[in-house]
Amino acid sequence: MARTVLVTGASSGIGRAIALHLTEAGYRVYGTSRHPNPQHNEPFTLLPLDVTQAESVAACVAMIDQIDVLINNAGITMICPVEQASLEDTYRLFETNVFGVLRMIHAVLPQMRARRSGQILNISSLLTAVGMPMLGLYAASKQALEGMTDALYAELAPFNIQISSLQCGAFQTNIQNTMLGPSRPLDGAYQAYHDVFFASAGQVARLGPPEQVAKRVQRILESPRPKLRYRIGMDAHFLYYITRLISRERFLGLVNRRLTNS
Ligand SMILES: NC(=O)c1ccc[n+]([C@@H]2O[C@H](COP(=O)([O-])OP(=O)(O)OC[C@H]3O[C@@H](n4cnc5c(N)ncnc54)[C@H](OP(=O)(O)O)[C@@H]3O)[C@@H](O)[C@H]2O)c1
Repeated sequence: MARTVLVTGASSGIGRAIALHLTEAGYRVYGTSRHPNPQHNEPFTLLPLDVTQAESVAACVAMIDQIDVLINNAGITMICPVEQASLEDTYRLFETNVFGVLRMIHAVLPQMRARRSGQILNISSLLTAVGMPMLGLYAASKQALEGMTDALYAELAPFNIQISSLQCGAFQTNIQNTMLGPSRPLDGAYQAYHDVFFASAGQVARLGPPEQVAKRVQRILESPRPKLRYRIGMDAHFLYYITRLISRERFLGLVNRRLTNS
């Protein structure tokens, strides 16, 4: 029988691509949005869900008979020097990217443990290899997720529940349109980071399509023994290997040279 998959944040970007691809591949798919359009014509069911709200999480999970696979995809980003991020925005970031995932996992695990079967996939980031300037707090949120995923990999094994993270490089989605930013005009040297960062973000049109991630997700779900960590995207592989080849200090020094010299 087709497995039932819940994909959080399926109104756009990677989550929508996953939901569409898995539907086409024969899975029974439930996607979510904070504000699902009642007139939507997606081929999967779109349920309301705000992962920052406990009642919303409980109501969403209760609407589905049995969740075989949970894909924690909903997420937001923050592009800002660490010093100039407001605590309020940082709480919002962690509420979505870390506590939101924790709420979802708490909500689905009792049924998965009772059935002694289930699979969870957390959509993570290349920035788990190293935090980068302007992306430090976003990196911190995804690194928190990785730590939680590692521990769960061990804790859930006796219950026959698999958990993995998929560290994505940069893909073309809406994420830059909803990003959190500095709480006030940037000070001095931070402006250079900001300008160069956004100059390279202008090349976003050349990023890969999220459908690539969706195809990898299907392969992970169908793997007989899913691994703890996966990476997708040349940039994700590059960051992973470069930080094993040279020290982080040296790597971050090179990044700084690029950000301040151009
Ligand atoms: N794009 C990249 O380059 C990239 C790289 C690495 C990792 N990622 C990760 O990939 C995931 C998807 O991001 P994306 O790039 O596809 O961005 P996106 O196009 O902006 O999609 C984000 C999704 O998350 C949902 N969402 C946001 N806040 C939510 C909340 N509080 N509760 C429930 N849903 C919420 C949004 O749905 P509604 O607004 O409809 O609620 C939307 O469907 C994120 O976890 C992101 O960190 C992306």
